Amino acid sequence: MNARGKSVAAPSRTRAAEAGAIQRCIDSGCGREHGIGERVYMCAGCGAPLEIFVREAVSGDGAALQKTWEGRRGSLDPRDRSGVWRFRELLPFGSDAPIVTLSEGNTPLYDAPRSAAYCKLDVLRLKHQGCNPTGSFKDTGMTAAVTQALALNARTVVCASTGNTAASLAAYAARAGLQSAILLPHGQITSSKLAQSMDYGAAVREIDGNFDDCMRLIQELGDDPSVYVANSINPFRIEGQKTVAFELMEQRAWRVPDHVVVPGGNLGNSSALGKGFSELLQLGLIERLPKLSVIQAEGAAPLAHLFARLGSDESRKKGGVPERIETVANPKTLATAIKIGSPVSWKKALRAILESGGSVIAVSEQEIADAKAMIGRDGIGCEPASATTVAGIRKLVAAGRIAASEDVVAVLTGHMLKDPDYVNAYHRGTLAAEAGGKPIHGAFRNQPVRVAATKSAILESLKGAE
Ligand code: F0G
Repeated sequence: MNARGKSVAAPSRTRAAEAGAIQRCIDSGCGREHGIGERVYMCAGCGAPLEIFVREAVSGDGAALQKTWEGRRGSLDPRDRSGVWRFRELLPFGSDAPIVTLSEGNTPLYDAPRSAAYCKLDVLRLKHQGCNPTGSFKDTGMTAAVTQALALNARTVVCASTGNTAASLAAYAARAGLQSAILLPHGQITSSKLAQSMDYGAAVREIDGNFDDCMRLIQELGDDPSVYVANSINPFRIEGQKTVAFELMEQRAWRVPDHVVVPGGNLGNSSALGKGFSELLQLGLIERLPKLSVIQAEGAAPLAHLFARLGSDESRKKGGVPERIETVANPKTLATAIKIGSPVSWKKALRAILESGGSVIAVSEQEIADAKAMIGRDGIGCEPASATTVAGIRKLVAAGRIAASEDVVAVLTGHMLKDPDYVNAYHRGTLAAEAGGKPIHGAFRNQPVRVAATKSAILESLKGAE
């Protein structure tokens, strides 16, 4: 992507930002550096992904930063009201950068006792990123990517998406007065997500193909100077998303959880969380890394397959990140957000998982569906992809990789109303993994009951109901 040497320099970045951060190739054999104002997504030398180094995040004074962030709690400055920009010292922007914000972040961390019991854990907490302005975790990254698009004087921002990235980009582009164009796999995203993109004014282009085809096209389009790519190959997205680790730790009074568990699709989110925790460790704000685990849907689980092939914990750590991943040609799952066979950020994600001692596993459609309903019973709710976390934690506890007494946080990535058709089908007993196939048996099915319009009929029907 952005063929080697084709990066476009942007004169508009402040000199302070230029001095304080760089983009660097993640391939340790290459390590080529790019200016923070270069419009480049992959290394111009070797084509590997890039990541951003913010000097303050490596050598800043952790205690002083902690105090500064705390001091912003009561502030009315829009930057301080954002759960991303409140941590701006660790972001690759000058202090005077005009930011594009929808007051993202500041999402709740819930106690989820029913889901905990379901997983056979004493306690489970859910960090609900679905409570962001467009209903998914993507907003924390998009505020940074669209801010960078403005800094680069881009006019059109583009992305490939299974729906949430598109909705988020469309909203932030609208706020910034930029045009957005999104590539979606035709017929494979939920109507709620599509509705959002249309309403926010994006140019919606539906492609005959799957998400991986859309992503390939975006990588080709990225060479064109007329567009700026906002997928998570864009390292500025990751910078915004890493702040979730900071916010989570603040909410927990800086007590490190034993495990943080996230769903895996294109693997930007797990990469970002890993980077966030690693920066906190370098700053001395936490004393160890939580084990970062990623859960994929069985039919779209290239990283889980690779992880299983890496062998024991010890051989995995020793062997490090391999050169290649075997992609899944025709990914399948009802959790359409993570229906991805060729994840672009797998190397960054796997590096963070191995560094922390976490796991990658896959869960079945049945497991996802029941876990989702269980999260609902906690009064929380999420979209199917997010429920892979609780399904996965249950499996990791059963396998002895998480102990009942351990401190576990699952990250819910999307709001329940992102996919109401799925929820209705589950509770009505019509949810099927394949069109025309056998429906999934909903262990926690809760079907509406039709009753006569009388008081006695209603009271009668409630007898015996929970
Ligand atoms: N959960 C939800 C709700 C998502 O929308 C996505 C990804 C993921 C989990 C996986 O996160 O890709 O960082 O590993 N959605 C992208 C999109 C692909 O286009 O909306 P990831």
